[in-house]
Amino acid sequence: MQEPTRRHLPFIGTAKVTHSGRDRMTCLYRCGNACDHPVPNQSDNEYFGDLVNSVSRRGLMRGALAIGLAGTGVAAAGVPAFAAPGAAAGGTDVELPEVDTFAAKSPEPSQLTFKAVTPNQVDGIVVPNGYEHAVVIKWGDEVVPGAPRFNVAKQSAEAQSKQFGYNNDFVAVLPLDRRGDQALLVCNHEYTNEDLMFPGFPGIDGLSVEQLRVAMAAHGMSIVELERVGDTGRWVPVSKGRRRYNRRVTALATHFTVDGPAAGSALLKTKADPSGRDVIGTLNNCAGGVTPWGTILSGEENFNQYFVGAETSTGVDKDRFNRYGIDTVNHYPSGSRKWDRADERFDLSKHPNEANRFGWIVEIDPFTPDSAPRKHTALGRVKHEGANVVIAGNGKAVAYMGDDERFDYLYKFVSDKKFDSGKSSSARRHNLTLLESGTLYVAKLGFTSAAEIDGSGKLPTDGAFNGTGTWVPLVKDGQSQVPGMTTAEVLVFTRLAGDAVGATKMDRPEDVEPNPKTGKIYVALTNNTARGPAGKAPADEANPRTNNKHGHIFEITEDNGDHTATTFTWTIPIVCGDPKDPATYFMGFDKTKVSPISCPDNVAFDGAGNLWIATDGNALGTNDGLFAVPLEGPEKGRLKQFLTVPYGAETCGPWIHADNRSAFVAVQHPGEISGASIENPASNWPDGDFAKPGIAVAWRVDGRNIGV
Ligand code: FEO
Ligand code: CA
Ligand code: CA
Ligand code: CA
Repeated sequence: MQEPTRRHLPFIGTAKVTHSGRDRMTCLYRCGNACDHPVPNQSDNEYFGDLVNSVSRRGLMRGALAIGLAGTGVAAAGVPAFAAPGAAAGGTDVELPEVDTFAAKSPEPSQLTFKAVTPNQVDGIVVPNGYEHAVVIKWGDEVVPGAPRFNVAKQSAEAQSKQFGYNNDFVAVLPLDRRGDQALLVCNHEYTNEDLMFPGFPGIDGLSVEQLRVAMAAHGMSIVELERVGDTGRWVPVSKGRRRYNRRVTALATHFTVDGPAAGSALLKTKADPSGRDVIGTLNNCAGGVTPWGTILSGEENFNQYFVGAETSTGVDKDRFNRYGIDTVNHYPSGSRKWDRADERFDLSKHPNEANRFGWIVEIDPFTPDSAPRKHTALGRVKHEGANVVIAGNGKAVAYMGDDERFDYLYKFVSDKKFDSGKSSSARRHNLTLLESGTLYVAKLGFTSAAEIDGSGKLPTDGAFNGTGTWVPLVKDGQSQVPGMTTAEVLVFTRLAGDAVGATKMDRPEDVEPNPKTGKIYVALTNNTARGPAGKAPADEANPRTNNKHGHIFEITEDNGDHTATTFTWTIPIVCGDPKDPATYFMGFDKTKVSPISCPDNVAFDGAGNLWIATDGNALGTNDGLFAVPLEGPEKGRLKQFLTVPYGAETCGPWIHADNRSAFVAVQHPGEISGASIENPASNWPDGDFAKPGIAVAWRVDGRNIGV
């Protein structure tokens, strides 16, 4: 339901908005002002013109014909039944839920009939007429039973370690019972904004060590049992009783086990952990995914900004730090949170390998609350946005991943072992090992219309931005495929391995997710305002605009519908921006009927295979939002805004619940506008006082499916 009564808040301060639509404050805290630093990818990869001749129309046709096959295979194999084996992997006596699937599975709706929400700057959540919304949980709320009541003026690391963390990003909601009235919320807490967390903020240097530890405890993940409100699509935390799964994972105290080929290597050993297999904490967890075996994957993204001391590095060590955006010039770079004052391991001059212990895909089993989450070195180390797994026709687990940095790459991991769809505890134990060994690939693209790409975004005469692609192996059967690099080096310095094989430079690959209905893979390429000028990679058919402020959606179809294939075809279904801008494209749909969209970031699918897109940093000047677009049928390309988030926030998650009756979003960094503070908030969401990140849910008042 619309919220016209919410007041519009004034901008605070001046000259806040920077790259794309982000505020300066978001740039500082989110990614350590990444756009102000040199592009980390200085590699001289193969120029796209060299690849044009590699494209074959026959290859394109073969891939296109395979789509139909992919659809049924993936729907059946990619979203398998999951049921309680009765005991968890570690042998502990954990009751697991007896549910069929975690993914939205309804065959309806085929159309999205809601009336699009108008772009706005309202300081509240706005949903279409006929819908309602509510906060599920917010920063400071109880997670671990018995957590102290939130008091922003007296926050402690111990309290924060039991309370809902800051700046929620990825969201999954896993059914817990067959009636559909209980569920488990799992979410990431990507980063903190100390300006907006501590009353009388004294500057980063003025924070006490205990306050730095509060920030560490506000990072990580939360796992929270939810219950449905009546028969509605609204969900709230279970507030009483056992809450057997509730858990906080933090950057402060949670031990992670490192596995895969690089575990225990010299590159991962530190003074505190001579085994190279035991890391405290997880950092900057952005997007993620739910595996077919019922665990959560989470991407460690902008970990670089947490470290200082790299200015003392030299030679290859310095090159490696630079490639990951770790500041090698200043002792206290602008992005540093100065956590070294609370924990010496964040000083790379003393502990140079500590940075190598972040930047991984982590897996957590939410149904085994006492299990150690794991960092999977087999999936490589980059600024991982997230990972989503599908089971290939031959039973292997395939994870698709993006490295969110300007000019960085797309990756795919194929497990050595096959998924066991059985319901026994031994099957589950087996599936928990699937991401420990396999083949890691990086994407290299070919083009069909290279000569026509001029950076304007003008559609080529063949009617599509499209081409072929190759998955180039980096590690196969546990062996490096990159000359001059060991297996451990490829996995710890994966960006350098991608450079060496000439991977294709993309416009910030964020979420990468297979459509459970068709098997096609969708990538959010959020933006890249550095593309085009002299000295930087020019526009190419896969990234067709110079100064790409608004981003685009990239679609991959694996050859023969086989997720383990090493070749694929691709196309760009949506080029984002104001539909009045000729450099936009919505699958050919009438652009007078679509919503403006900018900076696609997180994606999800509903049970009908419609694509839901959350945005981050709307460069069109209005609030970020959640959008939905059909990918098939007469309405394909008709993208509509479903929801907008409060002033200063970005839309994360999103998650369409398995019954298609609830859409969850994470409202990240509301009121994150330069000059804002607890005392002078730029947003009053959600309580009317200072801004707090939180998870919200939207549902249809008449109880029917979302979107219909
Ligand atoms: Fe944390 Fe790539 O967004
Ligand atoms: Ca083309
Ligand atoms: Ca993201
Ligand atoms: Ca984001």
